[in-house]
Amino acid sequence: MAYKQSSSTVTNDKNLKAAEIRLQPVSVTRKMAASLPGLRAQAEEQGLRIHHLGAGYPHPEVTDPTSFLEATNRWFAHLRDVDGVNDRDLIPEYLREMYAYTDTLGPLSPRNSFATVYGADWGLAMDPARLIPTVGATGGIALLCSTFERPGQALAYITDAPTYAGFLARSTLNQNAAIYSVDMDAEGPDPAQFRAQINQAREDGYFVPFYYTVPDGHNPAGFSFGAERRRALLKIAQDERVLVVEDAPYLYISYADPSERPMPFMTLDPTQTVHLFTGSKIGLPGPRVGFAYTEAVVEIADGEMVDLTDLLLTEASADVLFQNPHALRSFEALLRQDDGSIRPSLWPVAEEKLAIYRENRRILLDGLEDELGQFRDRFHWTEPEAGFFSVFTFKQADVVTDDAFIQKFVERYGVVVVPMYDFYPDDARERNGRAGLNQLRLSFCFSESTGPSRRLELTEAVRAFGQAVKAESGIS
Ligand SMILES: Cc1ncc(COP(=O)(O)O)c(C=O)c1O
Repeated sequence: MAYKQSSSTVTNDKNLKAAEIRLQPVSVTRKMAASLPGLRAQAEEQGLRIHHLGAGYPHPEVTDPTSFLEATNRWFAHLRDVDGVNDRDLIPEYLREMYAYTDTLGPLSPRNSFATVYGADWGLAMDPARLIPTVGATGGIALLCSTFERPGQALAYITDAPTYAGFLARSTLNQNAAIYSVDMDAEGPDPAQFRAQINQAREDGYFVPFYYTVPDGHNPAGFSFGAERRRALLKIAQDERVLVVEDAPYLYISYADPSERPMPFMTLDPTQTVHLFTGSKIGLPGPRVGFAYTEAVVEIADGEMVDLTDLLLTEASADVLFQNPHALRSFEALLRQDDGSIRPSLWPVAEEKLAIYRENRRILLDGLEDELGQFRDRFHWTEPEAGFFSVFTFKQADVVTDDAFIQKFVERYGVVVVPMYDFYPDDARERNGRAGLNQLRLSFCFSESTGPSRRLELTEAVRAFGQAVKAESGIS
């Protein structure tokens, strides 16, 4: 793939004219979060309870840091024993390292541990020297975008319709970037349109650095791509020399039978893929640990071929420069067993979270079936094989799930859901003026209460949603 340094740099005075700056609109999810306290007050005034099917956050039951802190303390005690203390001031070496400047790759040990465990889980011999620490997957997206923005060329990103709001927010901060999106069916993006969009973007004069996607537990589309579809997309990406940036927060939040889990793009061709790992869902979001991994080689301006890892590392060193060694060392505790030895797999760690999410998913799907199963000709909902979301579709033409609809859902029924239309890039909405305007994103990851109250709360939320849908659809 070609990553050419542009000779025409964008002139600052032109770019900085306030009138010409295209300001980023506020996303629907942010608007929702901001308006929620007011809506909640209104609903409560009418004696309604608020039912959460909107928030995409990890559940409080799996974000209790107690066991994480215990594991971290055990791991640090182990390091103290193994590393010994410095003769001069009796400070253990690992502590000295944690409070000193580190380098852009962060300490070696967490990368070694991660490469061993993650590599074993996904059948890939990962090179720890290629693991670039990022500030969560969000940091990975930002790193990729800023690396390709650097030469100042007009860029086009290929992505799914709908796609992750955080990707749209970051990629379109660049005023020289365009989004070319690809419509999806139940298996994933349409391969023919994928190729056509790459070609169209090139014809329109853009450099196409990568295709961004979330193949497992797609946020917001609420499903995982089929194995065959992944291969078809990868073949096109290889033919067209476009990287696949695979954002993988829900890889371990998987409900599929182990024998049926589709393999991530990284395992199919690490030389064509940039894999973004985050510790936010399998661990905790606060420490903001993530890694970008790729074995891709790209062409730079003078035809020279360089490791993309080196470009990403250069970009990272100009950005964060020093990783947070404490966060990385704490994250390493997740990769270690009680005696300090390396874990054979991360799946048992995931299982602690999965127990909650699996149950929540069942409550959502069973509740939808109970309330709306007999109206499948009118409604459709995805059954996610991974992740936090199901997409609910009104098949009849007269329901429009715009902001007013969402507000009405809270005011009349106390049900908080997220509209889908905002997740569709502009070009998808130009192709289809109704894109997402008959869909809602239902999330089953979050509720305010825990244990039996969580089950009850979610059961009631799904029931309230089903009844609201029926009322709005004229079903008595
Ligand atoms: C697809 C996707 N990418 C990235 C993120 C953010 O990940 P992180 O917390 O690691 O920044 C999320 C979280 O909601 C997500 O759904």
